[in-house]
Amino acid sequence: MEALKRLEYRGYDSWGVAFGEGPNLVKKSGRISGVSFADGEVAPAFAGLGHTRWATHGGVTDANAHPHLDCTGKIAVVHNGIIENWEELRRGLEERGHTFRSETDTEVVSHLVEEGMEGVADLAGFVEVVRRVFNQLEGLNAIVVYSPQIRAIIGFRNGSPMVVGVGPLDSRSGSPREYFLASDIPAFLPYTDRVIFLNDGEGAILSEGELKLIDAATGQEKLPQIEKIEWAAEEAELGEHPHYLIKEISEQPQVLARLAEYPEKDLKEVISLIKKSFGTYFTACGTAAHSGLAATYLFADLAHRHVNFAVGSEFYFLESFLTPKSLLICASQSGETMDTMEAARAAKKHHAKIVALTNVRGSSLTRLADDTLLLNCGPEKAVLATKSYTAKLALFLMLAAGIGGKLEEGRQGVAKAARGVKEILDDKNVAKIRELAKRLKDVDHLYAIGRGVNYPTALEAALKIKEVSYIHAEGFAGGELKHGVIALIEEGTPCLIFAARDKTESSILSNAKELKSRGGFIIGVSPEDNEVFDIWLKVPDVGPASPIVNVVPAQLLAYYLAVERGLDPDKPRNLAKSVTVK
Ligand code: AGP
Repeated sequence: MEALKRLEYRGYDSWGVAFGEGPNLVKKSGRISGVSFADGEVAPAFAGLGHTRWATHGGVTDANAHPHLDCTGKIAVVHNGIIENWEELRRGLEERGHTFRSETDTEVVSHLVEEGMEGVADLAGFVEVVRRVFNQLEGLNAIVVYSPQIRAIIGFRNGSPMVVGVGPLDSRSGSPREYFLASDIPAFLPYTDRVIFLNDGEGAILSEGELKLIDAATGQEKLPQIEKIEWAAEEAELGEHPHYLIKEISEQPQVLARLAEYPEKDLKEVISLIKKSFGTYFTACGTAAHSGLAATYLFADLAHRHVNFAVGSEFYFLESFLTPKSLLICASQSGETMDTMEAARAAKKHHAKIVALTNVRGSSLTRLADDTLLLNCGPEKAVLATKSYTAKLALFLMLAAGIGGKLEEGRQGVAKAARGVKEILDDKNVAKIRELAKRLKDVDHLYAIGRGVNYPTALEAALKIKEVSYIHAEGFAGGELKHGVIALIEEGTPCLIFAARDKTESSILSNAKELKSRGGFIIGVSPEDNEVFDIWLKVPDVGPASPIVNVVPAQLLAYYLAVERGLDPDKPRNLAKSVTVK
């Protein structure tokens, strides 16, 4: 149950567990975090299967919560992904007399396993049944099947994440006391730091004190490679912070300072891949996309290199230009975002090289990439990406500077930004931003503008605010105001202005004056104050690293807007931390 609560950030529409002999099943809509159990509702057992859901097929109801059982109630299944041929499978099962209890695609797995298990009572038979069922599923999925009768849990993955936790060795038997299967490492990190990263097309069989890995296509056994997780369990915990979001915003100075020391060999490997490529492409989604868009400016300014950028879900229009000489850089905190993975798979088809910027070692993206730069910013559990965003910007800045032969300058820029973020996070400044949030908490609309490398900052500020406070917020390129956007401005409309000491400064300040003259309430995020600002949020002048420091006041404003509006800053409605479906 604790492990499941640690995975809640991945989806929190409903939760459920199947455990012990029956298996016993408890599942409900709503969040598991606040649930305490009446005695006996959930009891200790030799094995259990849990799931916390972000709904794709079927509404948020108790019946649609995972785990799902077969007709006999003896097989429990949980699933991550989308079974694209589920309707056809369901029709066949219903024609053969199976009764479904939910509207989910997942439930077809439990009935297919039930059918396969007729006459099967041993582990080998169970493994073969689950393997064959898994191979019938179309789409990108991870499934886990639990049979109390066989006393085994079997998981297979293809395109959705799954890692194996190997518990501490038992002093008497010398073998691990327990094993874990999870979508992400924080689930079992307090119990073990030994992990096996499953590849797509592989399965794990957990039975009484034994673990086996097999190939999904052939059933051949594979040798497990146990690795050690570097970060400590407490890094994934809240500590003294009230929410993960403010914890992770506050961690940015040390994350950035660490990134400034990034191993030169790793950076130079990627710099050489970029230099050798003919056609450099960036793709990412959401906040990660904003880091990619900012990187196109950094690469143009510092490396005089043209980059083709598209968000993951729109990358298809660039696919036909990819050649074996192309290089695609994918930025993804989770390394599992389906839209980004689809672009990476398309690039692979064209034999382009792939570089991953990600925070999760062993994630699907790292398995597809020719080279990976880990963000090393520790687990990011708030749904909102914050430290992973500035970490990506830092890496992009150093890569761009390095291509221009000034890697050391890039490092110094990141180190300066680390110090700058620390200044922004001082109590007085944070209190000022909290006061601003109190003032803005009931507005209906909020706009953000920026130019050049801070145009993406405006987009990112708007995304942070809207996804956690539910206030309608939009980011624009400052120059776009006069092309229609400025019609939105009324008396008192709050407008965030992102300025930096670069060639765009005077233009963005005149855009601020345009907004002010139409009644806008001007909030200036800038190294210098200006008479056009109604409120000035000071940020240090850090040269080309300005998007790193400029975003932090917006992250803080978004956080305090959510707090002032009585919302959950870590788990906004309708969202999940890792969007592993299209
Ligand atoms: C950002 O705050 C959101 N959580 C979302 O836009 C996120 O950045 C996007 O889904 C991409 O996630 P990734 O970095 O794990 O690929």
